[in-house]
Amino acid sequence: MTHPVHTAAVIGAGTIGLSWTALFAAHGLTVRVSDPRPDLKEAVAGALAEFGPHLAAQGLRAEALADRVLLAADITEAVRDADIVQENGPERVEFKKELFTHLVREAPGHALLLSSSSAIPATAFTTELEDAGRVLIGHPFNPPHLLPLVEIVPGERTTAEAVQAAVDFYTAVGRAPVVERREIPGFVGNRLQNALSREAVYLVQQGVVTPDDLDTVVTHSLGIRWATVGPFLASHLGGGPGGYRHMSAHIGQSMRQLALGQPSHDPQDRERVVQAVEKAYASTPYTDLAEARDRKQLAVLTAVEDTRHNQHQKET
Ligand SMILES: NC(=O)c1ccc[n+]([C@@H]2O[C@H](COP(=O)([O-])OP(=O)(O)OC[C@H]3O[C@@H](n4cnc5c(N)ncnc54)[C@H](O)[C@@H]3O)[C@@H](O)[C@H]2O)c1
Repeated sequence: MTHPVHTAAVIGAGTIGLSWTALFAAHGLTVRVSDPRPDLKEAVAGALAEFGPHLAAQGLRAEALADRVLLAADITEAVRDADIVQENGPERVEFKKELFTHLVREAPGHALLLSSSSAIPATAFTTELEDAGRVLIGHPFNPPHLLPLVEIVPGERTTAEAVQAAVDFYTAVGRAPVVERREIPGFVGNRLQNALSREAVYLVQQGVVTPDDLDTVVTHSLGIRWATVGPFLASHLGGGPGGYRHMSAHIGQSMRQLALGQPSHDPQDRERVVQAVEKAYASTPYTDLAEARDRKQLAVLTAVEDTRHNQHQKET
């Protein structure tokens, strides 16, 4: 598993696979991409053109990305000489079961087999595999060429060597891997996101706030805070000199009494929320919204990185 990584196979070139492709190529890897979508060539070319400037802004090799990205006729061809495989197909257990059976058979024995799965743990699709030791979750946040987190979640049979190799690989491509200690559906990031989304939908359904105003609440408060300190450090600081202990005893008391809402899953109520979100955003083209999001995210990343760098300079 300590094999150097020169070639990556990207299986599934939708939202996530295209972004991984650009990131891996910008780190000098040869990337073989497989996806049955009929517009694969155009989708890859479009993604490299769109993401190239983001990668250049991160100081990466964004020129001639296309020279390092090869379209494979099928999965067998994509993984033939792969050192790592990043799977980004549909989020369905049966799909991943079948695909990983194929990958274990076709990919070189040393290749790490990583799934971008958002919620399905590796054990759910590897129990029948002979060689599950090198299969694990490498779950990114969208888009992976910008957002640094990768949740590394080993399955019950994943080896410690494979976990370390995954940490080494994602670190080498500039990501921030976090190894999670136990499998749980949705892992950590999506469970946190889901908790917030659930309350957001409840507040909109109750008529407390519109979707765009709720988004403003988040982007002008929690969003900025959370790019700098996570919820635990935020509470530790929020507690003043008494820290988290004081926060927990003091404001924590009233927070614990605050019952969170249960959004309605009634199809009509769900439809009303969809319509409210569309009213807020659907008149702007998807590409414009995504481009603005990526530009702002890049600015935040750069600012946080500069601050870290300046702090380091001051300390040394
Ligand atoms: N979109 C997100 O925000 C996000 C974030 C993190 C992880 N993920 C996870 O990443 C994975 C992919 O999600 P996505 O949003 O990119 O989905 P997507 O629908 O955009 O892309 C999936 C791609 O898989 C392709 N595909 C279908 N069958 C295939 C096969 N047999 N071989 C190869 N490719 C095949 C499809 O043609 C499609 O292009 C899912 O497991 C998802 O949960 C998604």
